[in-house]
Amino acid sequence: MIRMRRKKLWASCFCFAAAFFFVVTLQVITELGNSENKVAVISSLHSGPLKPVEIHAFQFKKQEFPSSFKTESDVNQYPILLWWSPLTGETGRLGQCGEDVCFFTINKTYQHNQMTRAFLFYGTDFSIDSLPLPRRDYHDWALFHEESPKNNYKLFHEPTITLFNHTATFSRHSHLPLTTQYLEGVEVLKSLRYMIPLQMKNNLRKRLAPLVYVQSDCNPPSDRDSYVRELMCHIEVDSYGECLHNRDLPQHLRNPTAMDDGNFYKILAQYKFILAFENAICEDYITEKLWRPLKLGVVPVYFGSPSIVDWLPSNKSAILVSSFSHPRELARYIKMLDTNDQEYESYLRWKLKGDISNPRLLTVMKERKWGVQDITQENYIDTFECMVCNRVWENIRRKEKVHVTLSLCLREALKWHWAQIGPRKFGYQISGQPTTTGIAMPLQHASSRQKVLAEGVGTWPEHVSLVLQQCLSSYTLTTELVVISAEGGLTCSGRRFLSGYRE
Ligand SMILES: *[C@@H]1O[C@H](CO)[C@@H](O)[C@H](O)[C@H]1NC(C)=O
Ligand SMILES: *[C@@H]1O[C@H](CO)[C@@H](O)[C@H](O)[C@H]1NC(C)=O
Ligand SMILES: *[C@@H]1O[C@H](CO)[C@@H](O)[C@H](O)[C@H]1NC(C)=O
Repeated sequence: MIRMRRKKLWASCFCFAAAFFFVVTLQVITELGNSENKVAVISSLHSGPLKPVEIHAFQFKKQEFPSSFKTESDVNQYPILLWWSPLTGETGRLGQCGEDVCFFTINKTYQHNQMTRAFLFYGTDFSIDSLPLPRRDYHDWALFHEESPKNNYKLFHEPTITLFNHTATFSRHSHLPLTTQYLEGVEVLKSLRYMIPLQMKNNLRKRLAPLVYVQSDCNPPSDRDSYVRELMCHIEVDSYGECLHNRDLPQHLRNPTAMDDGNFYKILAQYKFILAFENAICEDYITEKLWRPLKLGVVPVYFGSPSIVDWLPSNKSAILVSSFSHPRELARYIKMLDTNDQEYESYLRWKLKGDISNPRLLTVMKERKWGVQDITQENYIDTFECMVCNRVWENIRRKEKVHVTLSLCLREALKWHWAQIGPRKFGYQISGQPTTTGIAMPLQHASSRQKVLAEGVGTWPEHVSLVLQQCLSSYTLTTELVVISAEGGLTCSGRRFLSGYRE
């Protein structure tokens, strides 16, 4: 589904590289003089296996332009990011991500290369039977997974998701959140293209139900059909899909590809309400099931992400199944709206006014670096690759800084200790919420190096550890020293919601 077409990119990269080659070479020569001192400091602090990569890249970071032809020596100067699932089909490419350069490949012979810094996995293909083992401590694992737990449930359990240092999932907490992956832009939400005036919808009610349901994937983890079946006992629902089918689509729309057909949209747009039920109930797992009714000017009756209000265009733009104790109550509410035009239209006011009032949605859409079905924008796989490249580099640079910081801070703390000033309280919590002073991070999020430090510190006199921690925090390195893998975790309820409402 998401295979890449890189040929064009390759060609344009080549032209670019050729055109800039001489300019860049010149710049490198002049700038090298300026950066000499910095490089000397950094390399003198450095030890460990990263040496060739780091020093070279610190030297050339800003000036280097990736050549579009790779040679063995090119590859050995940059972190190698190896796709363990051959998602991109690329045998090898130097990619420029802002100021950072990484080598991306699907060629598994790089598994044991000492420059390999990250393995990239596509969630659907992630299998515990085939993993790049043994995993070295400088091997980051990165996960790209846009699907719900239905697709690969293993990834939704803590022991698995915490294997990854970098994640791109539907969760807003992942490092590259794909929460809005089914939304092209805010303009399509505001568009009135398919919207049918309420007066006409009221006329159509003579031959249409107030609610429409279109689902052909029956019995998914969310157990939506059980709910809709019960709902149908209390209110009329037109169901065009295979699940709970009671109404036929025109012949030419009876295939899965027709779901994006304008004529199909026109049928749905005639309804007042659409049952928008996700296949799994996960925080931030939101699909076209929500966005489609919003685009069409139909009120979604939504069952899915528990925190969906965080993403709705306005407070009053959807009816949430979770606010009703029983399908019968939901049916009663919809019947009320069906007969009260003013109340019904209050759910569409945001659209009629073209007013999206949710700052989170607006910001996320504005800052999103990738597009949906939009060839003028980056796609999310490229963005994912660069996110990992940048984070790998960030950690390489942080490790350098930490060497300096730790030794400076330790010296500072010991000095303070010997100065015999009595213990002093600072206003921070060691394992609570971040505050402006102290190490503001729960221990389980700390890197192993930090844990060792924190544990060591714990046995010291209190004031020494306080100074040490305050000193560290003043370097602002500590909040994300190394990757916080658990943050990329996904919270999903695997529970079926059947129990409870049936009397
Ligand atoms: C994979 O890389 C090795 C060098 O590491 C090279 O010899 C081999 O031809 C590559 N394979 C493919 C399919 O590109
Ligand atoms: C990456 O994740 C693994 C597994 O959680 C962890 O052991 C390792 O320390 C992490 N690497 C970094 C650089 O944080
Ligand atoms: C929803 O309402 C609350 C309080 O009434 C407000 O703080 C919030 O900003 C509103 N959200 C949107 C998306 O309008």
